[in-house]
Amino acid sequence: MSEPRKILVTSALPYANGSIHLGHMLEYIQTDMWVRFQKHRGNQCIYVCADDAHGSAIMLRAEKEGITPEQLIDNVKAEHSADFADFLVDFDNFHSTHSDENRELSSMIYTRLRDAGHIATRSITQYFDPEKLMFLADRFIKGTCPKCGTEDQYGDNCEKCGATYAPTDLKNPKSAISGATPVLKESQHFFFKLPDFDAMLKSWTRSGTLQEAVANKIAEWLDAGLQQWDISRDAPYFGFEIPGEPGKYFYVWLDAPIGYMASFKNLCARRPDLDFDAYWAKDSTTELYHFIGKDIVNFHALFWPAMLEGAGFRKPTAINVHGYLTVNGQKMSKSRGTFIKARTYLDNLPPEYLRYYYAAKLSRGVDDLDLNLEDFVQKVNSDLIGKVVNIASRCAGFIHKGNAGVLVAGNAAPELTDAFLAAAPGIAEAYEARDFARAMREIMGLADRANAYIADKAPWSLAKQEGKQDEVQAVCALGINLFRQLVIFLKPVLPLLAADAEKFLNVAPLTWGDHLTLLSDHQLNPFLALMTRIDPVKVQAMSDASKEDLTVSQTSVAPQGNGELVKEPLAAEIDFDAFAAVDLRVALILKAEHVEGADKLLRLTLDIGDEQRNVFSGIKSAYPNPAELEGRLTMMIANLKPRKMRFGISEGMVMAAGPGGEEIYLLSPDSGAKPGQRIK
Ligand code: MSP
Ligand code: ZN
Repeated sequence: MSEPRKILVTSALPYANGSIHLGHMLEYIQTDMWVRFQKHRGNQCIYVCADDAHGSAIMLRAEKEGITPEQLIDNVKAEHSADFADFLVDFDNFHSTHSDENRELSSMIYTRLRDAGHIATRSITQYFDPEKLMFLADRFIKGTCPKCGTEDQYGDNCEKCGATYAPTDLKNPKSAISGATPVLKESQHFFFKLPDFDAMLKSWTRSGTLQEAVANKIAEWLDAGLQQWDISRDAPYFGFEIPGEPGKYFYVWLDAPIGYMASFKNLCARRPDLDFDAYWAKDSTTELYHFIGKDIVNFHALFWPAMLEGAGFRKPTAINVHGYLTVNGQKMSKSRGTFIKARTYLDNLPPEYLRYYYAAKLSRGVDDLDLNLEDFVQKVNSDLIGKVVNIASRCAGFIHKGNAGVLVAGNAAPELTDAFLAAAPGIAEAYEARDFARAMREIMGLADRANAYIADKAPWSLAKQEGKQDEVQAVCALGINLFRQLVIFLKPVLPLLAADAEKFLNVAPLTWGDHLTLLSDHQLNPFLALMTRIDPVKVQAMSDASKEDLTVSQTSVAPQGNGELVKEPLAAEIDFDAFAAVDLRVALILKAEHVEGADKLLRLTLDIGDEQRNVFSGIKSAYPNPAELEGRLTMMIANLKPRKMRFGISEGMVMAAGPGGEEIYLLSPDSGAKPGQRIK
């Protein structure tokens, strides 16, 4: 065996202002499977991550929730950590960019860059919100598109005609935060002189560090000429103040990648076997890989290596880029119930099914990956349950009944075990190259062969024949051994299945090298159900629950994704006919009750004159004692198409205002209005 490699691996640091969804999980699962594979093979592989906790979006969201940014990022960190743990993503450390280590490293890197002459300063003019007293990033300015005249467009591009422009080109600009008309104001900014690293980047990006498609994209940018990068923001900003520059803060993307180093440094403090410099010094011989999505390539393949070079640190061995997740062939969508949060998935389904599905579809390219929910059910049931687990469940009974759970010695089909042995290097190569799809195809090919062998020998018929007991035992012992091989190959993807199989097989935790041996004359433990088929009802429940999240966010003033608006903009104008098409009615709340199993919903029974309606409404957090709503009048949309939800059919919607959470205010007409009256 060669020397174990020393490898440091990261996934992109998730923003600390929103929940993890299945798109994010593609990245964390991909990285985790690769890390587990390295550990399985006996390499020293360290996997670190952190929450990306800085920036104005986080500051503004905390303000809106009436808590400090520190409280917000603590809460989110707890939520993120639980999501990752429950998806079996096994970080060696999950830290935060708002940490002492990161503050020190960011200062150090900045100071080194500055002292080496890589920082420039100059004054720039930007929009400033005179009410909120802050400079406005492009996405916090809205106005009329200078090209096509569409109203309500963001500060940098028009969704209608696709034009890109500077925020100062917008007509009738407004601050999306306060609604005020912004004024132009000058301020001193700090710039990282990226062009200083042009030659280094041209060679580094072509030295096998990037997938070809990514290197080509970067080459376009390099050919177009690099620009200096603005790395400062003015107060108020949630981040680190720039050393020696009061009121100036590092832009969140300056200290975010340094967060990789900071998380590792934090880990070193409790792992004496790890030496920070051995991994980060310029002459380091360890390997460093960053797994990221295709949207953040410029930060990782241009700015980051330049920062590292300029500050005297090593550069990454490679940047591993993946594509975006689509669900049922389309961008994840809240209204279609395909914007699925990690927690919503976990509430309904076991984590390993998604891990396997992602593995089966992930290759080393940057193409988008589709989670087709029907295919998901079909593939998991047919591969994991129908092929892999099936081998063990078909054989275990005969061994327990016929031989007291002991695997007999010997090898009933050496050509089969040889084929498994011969396939192992190719499977390892596929894992190493992050071609999980190829690894899974090869493993399932082996599973097919094992099943065909067992079907052919049919131990269930042999068992009924006189004098065939030895053959039954030999066939089933081989079956269990082949199952064990498959588990060894699948362990990076399915760590829980592996742990359960180890219990059943009565063996120490399996490592890759164990595939070289077979169990013989070996006592098994009783067989336990290893995995069950996916019931499609669970998948439906997951989609419904994702729509349920929507009913709540519909009453929300602020979408909570990063950098989105904090004030809900006015919707596009409609004509009178569109208004008249909406049938609004006065409704009397006859009954208001909790819904078993729903965090956010109340079930309302409404009287609208001639008929009663059953409506599910996401207002529970504001009305924890629903009985107090009974007898009250409210307003409902009575001609909304009924919608099937996990808990039943919702026949309309009641009207409420407010940002969400405890602040939801159900609307009521003045006294005198009667149930069923149309609102005009
Ligand atoms: N905070 C930055 C990363 C800083 S790294 C120094 C960020 N955060 S993020 O939360 O928006 O995204 C985290 C990772 O998830 C990114 O690599 C991003 O590409 C990935 N994904 C986010 N949505 C995704 C999909 N729908 N599909 C696949 N990956 C996605 O960017
Ligand atoms: Zn336009």
